Amino acid sequence: MSFSGRHIVSIKDLSREDLIVILRLAQQLEAEPQPDLLAGTVMGTLFFEPSTRTRLSFESAMQKLGGSVIGFSDSSNTSAKKGETLADTIRMVNAYTDVIVMRHPQEGAARLASEVATCPVINGGDGANQHPTQTCLDLYTISKLFPQLLDGSAPLRVCFAGDLRYGRTVHSLLNALTHFHTELLCCAPRGLEMPSRYIELAESRGIRVEHNADLQECVHDCDILYMTRLQEERFPDPVEFHHIKASYRLDAQALEGARDHLRILHPLPRVNEIATDVDMTKHAHYFEQAANGIPVRQALLSLILGKCTPEGTLLKTTAEKGKGASA
Ligand code: CP
Repeated sequence: MSFSGRHIVSIKDLSREDLIVILRLAQQLEAEPQPDLLAGTVMGTLFFEPSTRTRLSFESAMQKLGGSVIGFSDSSNTSAKKGETLADTIRMVNAYTDVIVMRHPQEGAARLASEVATCPVINGGDGANQHPTQTCLDLYTISKLFPQLLDGSAPLRVCFAGDLRYGRTVHSLLNALTHFHTELLCCAPRGLEMPSRYIELAESRGIRVEHNADLQECVHDCDILYMTRLQEERFPDPVEFHHIKASYRLDAQALEGARDHLRILHPLPRVNEIATDVDMTKHAHYFEQAANGIPVRQALLSLILGKCTPEGTLLKTTAEKGKGASA
């Protein structure tokens, strides 16, 4: 199915084949920058919730491809403050842009936007629900660290650790990993376990899911440790939050005896759950993971703005066609 004009609201909108096209194109764009590919196109970034990586890497990705960006990172400075509905805001931004990237605290807000907009809408995170572009960059990072993800030669054992209840990145990533040869381990404090619908989805696709609440044991039992932040802003009880926060932390000492090839990922921001002494170990890969947001988001923008074939082959830009004619 062609990507051109498609919304990316949920990871469920992307098949295994789609994910592979995105990863291969990201690899190409990382190796061969395309400074004119999106010249003349405008991206709107509507961030109703805070963000550093998602918003700035989307904006950087667009600008590095020759496009431009309008938008806001604080909706209190927009007419939403005067009571304008999300649907009307989307109708307006749709008139000004070629693609909309949106983050919103309400689950389902990106789906609503996609039903109102005629231009493609990309979900940059909606409540505790989905964060599909984070998943694409997580998969890209995993495929660079472990090529077996794509060739399927051996199962990859992935441990999700932390707030698996409210953490939207683990929900999206679990869904995507079920398309590949993986074994999943869930490590969550009591009350923050992975919702059963995600476990059932994995099991329905033949993926084994194990559970172990002991972080130290899990560290020794996986190839990838995907840590997540406790989502304080979604926690109903602040006392319970502070109690759990104190008991859930990874430091360099805890990594002694881990598999040599263990790789630690985290969507960031980290708060308390990974001590800074882990950053210096060979296991830490979360900063390069965040940097991978640029080529992956470039790939997504290029695909949905119609600059590639459905198989992910880049179409020639007008400037390149002109060069060919004069050569
Ligand atoms: N990983 C992620 O979504 O980071 P930001 O909240 O900074 O965008």
